[in-house]
Amino acid sequence: MRKGKVYIIGAGPGDWELISVKGLERLKEADAIVYDFLASKDLLAFAKKGARVICAGKADGLHILEQGQINKLLYEEAKRGKTVARLKGGDPFVFSRGIEEALYLKKKKVDFEVIPGITSAFASAESFGIPLTRRGKFSSVAVLTGRKSSGKSLDAPDCDTLVYLMAVGNIKKVVEKILASGRPESTPCVFIERATTKDKRIVRGNLGNIERRAQKYSVRAPAVFIVGKIVNYGK
Ligand SMILES: C[S@@+](CC[C@H](N)C(=O)[O-])C[C@H]1O[C@@H](n2cnc3c(N)ncnc32)[C@H](O)[C@@H]1O
Repeated sequence: MRKGKVYIIGAGPGDWELISVKGLERLKEADAIVYDFLASKDLLAFAKKGARVICAGKADGLHILEQGQINKLLYEEAKRGKTVARLKGGDPFVFSRGIEEALYLKKKKVDFEVIPGITSAFASAESFGIPLTRRGKFSSVAVLTGRKSSGKSLDAPDCDTLVYLMAVGNIKKVVEKILASGRPESTPCVFIERATTKDKRIVRGNLGNIERRAQKYSVRAPAVFIVGKIVNYGK
């Protein structure tokens, strides 16, 4: 029997054209496609005829399949000799459970390959013309989570730019943590929502008013929260 293989593919941040050439080619060849909500649905049009297409879900608070079920599904399809495309939003290893899938497949001795994707952590700013570094001015950037499942306290390291994912529902605590680390309320920051899609939006503010502004403009996930003077660049 043909040996199965799982490709863990980064779909990019939203615009389907931002997937890599390699990711798209493996997607087209797949016998089964298991996709998350954050991966662009437009990519499903490339599924070959007869491919099994399965939504694994996973948006804030909504999981169609639990992680254990997803791991098992990938394993079972590969064991049947199938080529599987596991399509994940952004990059599959940036604040993602892609690593858990890879470890499970490794344990089960299933062949797999990770195909990197463009992460929303970088693409969100860039889609509004905001760089994340600038020679001689901004030399450090940290990518952080705005919500920790472990219950541990949030991070606000001392570097030029902070990029938080999953911060929308916890913005009060995120801002408190950043202020406590010594940044003034006047520090500029932005929320960038649905970056690289037709609905993309930027909400600007500073640490003193961003929570109010996010409420006023009904900022919703998926959005990244970027803090630091570098956000003064851009459109
Ligand atoms: C579970 S993480 C997955 C991150 C993904 N692996 C990546 O590399 O972009 C989900 C978070 O990514 C961010 N995100 C994903 N897509 C986004 C987009 N198009 N615009 C803004 N933020 C996005 C949001 O912060 C969202 O809550």
